[in-house]
Amino acid sequence: MKKIVIAIDGYSACGKSSTAKGVASVLGYTYIDSGAMYRAVTLYFDRNHVSITNTQEVKKALENIDITFIVNDKTGLNETYLNGLNVEDEIRKMYISKQVSQVSMIKEVRVEMVSQQQKLGKKKGVVMDGRDIGTVVFPDAELKLFMDADIYVRAGRRQQELLDKGQMIGLEEIMENLKERDRIDTTRKESPLVKAEDATIVDTTFRTLEEQIEEVVNLALSKILDGDSTQLELEKE
Ligand code: CDP
Repeated sequence: MKKIVIAIDGYSACGKSSTAKGVASVLGYTYIDSGAMYRAVTLYFDRNHVSITNTQEVKKALENIDITFIVNDKTGLNETYLNGLNVEDEIRKMYISKQVSQVSMIKEVRVEMVSQQQKLGKKKGVVMDGRDIGTVVFPDAELKLFMDADIYVRAGRRQQELLDKGQMIGLEEIMENLKERDRIDTTRKESPLVKAEDATIVDTTFRTLEEQIEEVVNLALSKILDGDSTQLELEKE
């Protein structure tokens, strides 16, 4: 069956990653979390005291950053590695969330990440989520989604996710972080978060994760089967 690229963009913590993971698992596709890459760069900058206003320092740092995704045997899910170290938990912490949007504004950072993301999706059969996937990384993606949800619902879900990882953070602090990231992400000069013209809006406020996954899988299947009837006929024979 034909393989497609599914691009999921949207505001912070509106269910993009959970939906993308579920859809990838149903379709047997690879899930790529582009936000994890920006978070890993942020972690490197933080650890190495890289001044984000110094272009030379930023460029040099980028040369020393190697980000990979390796499947965890137990969960079957991709985990993020920075220079060979598993940073999957560290990059989700609040101190990274508070700096990541400033780092993601930097042109040099974006150019490098976008190039790596395009390589990862070259063979298709991928679900990638982020802020500029349908507009910049894969403008030709067969299926583009733009996700949103009520800010209180988003903050509550993020609070629960952090709690599950042992981090107790107040709702106000989370909400402020989500709003601030959305503000920076939508107003930055370099590839701001904006709905691609041909993206379908998915509002997850009143949906369960299962409903979201089902809706996206159905949209994906209609794209996969679109114009593929000859192949289906052949497969039936
Ligand atoms: O999971 P959550 O919605 O909190 O965010 P994320 O997907 O982990 O992304 C973290 C941050 O990385 C975003 O707030 C953006 O500043 C940046 N990002 C980006 O600029 N472009 C992307 N394609 C993905 C993330």
